[in-house]
Amino acid sequence: MTILETDVLLTRSSEAEADRQFIRRWSPRAMSGEVVTLGEIEQLVEAARWAPSCFNSQPWRFVYGLRGTPQWKPMLDLIMDMNQSWAKDAGALVAIVARTTFEHNNAPAPTHSFDTGSAWMSFALQAQSMGLVTHAMWGVEHDQAPVVLNLGEVYKLQAIVAVGRSGDKQELPQPLQDREVPSSRKAISELAFAGQLPSEPQY
Ligand SMILES: Cc1cc2nc3c(=O)[nH]c(=O)nc-3n(C[C@H](O)[C@H](O)[C@H](O)COP(=O)(O)O)c2cc1C
Repeated sequence: MTILETDVLLTRSSEAEADRQFIRRWSPRAMSGEVVTLGEIEQLVEAARWAPSCFNSQPWRFVYGLRGTPQWKPMLDLIMDMNQSWAKDAGALVAIVARTTFEHNNAPAPTHSFDTGSAWMSFALQAQSMGLVTHAMWGVEHDQAPVVLNLGEVYKLQAIVAVGRSGDKQELPQPLQDREVPSSRKAISELAFAGQLPSEPQY
């Protein structure tokens, strides 16, 4: 059974008015195994490339492997077994990579992850608007990624994202079927503060 966007809205509640697209986005693992095309990936990158970045440095890069192409298997092999058990049914795998230094002077770019994170969110929301699903993974072979993806010295892997079309939850391995539910969030009162963070309890 495919979990519909309307089901997501039933399981998640909001505390203040915000656009529904943010609440609807989630990271399902059930994907159908249908292909995602290069044209679709370019639409996701189009959304992502308009993200803001420090000095407009645009440190994000997207290295893709489309299902059915020679780049698919090396990319899938980079993913750890638990993630591979479901990510194998994605239509494309996209490594999101950040340049850790500025291109103009090679000085460290301290906001490379922050900037690339905002591009990833645009990528994910664009996918959702196209009826695609996305699921980011940190659980990848980080020692092998620089070689397989040719990252050199200055690019750092941020995550590999499975992009696909919604699939049948019953096709997932049993433990993952139980976890195939949209997650909740901390309350606004735990996240937003006037002027200063509250002191944390001392242990
Ligand atoms: C950078 C990053 C790495 C993640 N790594 C994994 C992962 O290795 N395996 C996995 O199943 N989910 C992974 N996730 C998905 C998160 O667990 C998920 O986004 C989080 O629980 C919130 O759920 P939601 O995206 O469905 O709202 C990752 C998410 C991000 C942003």
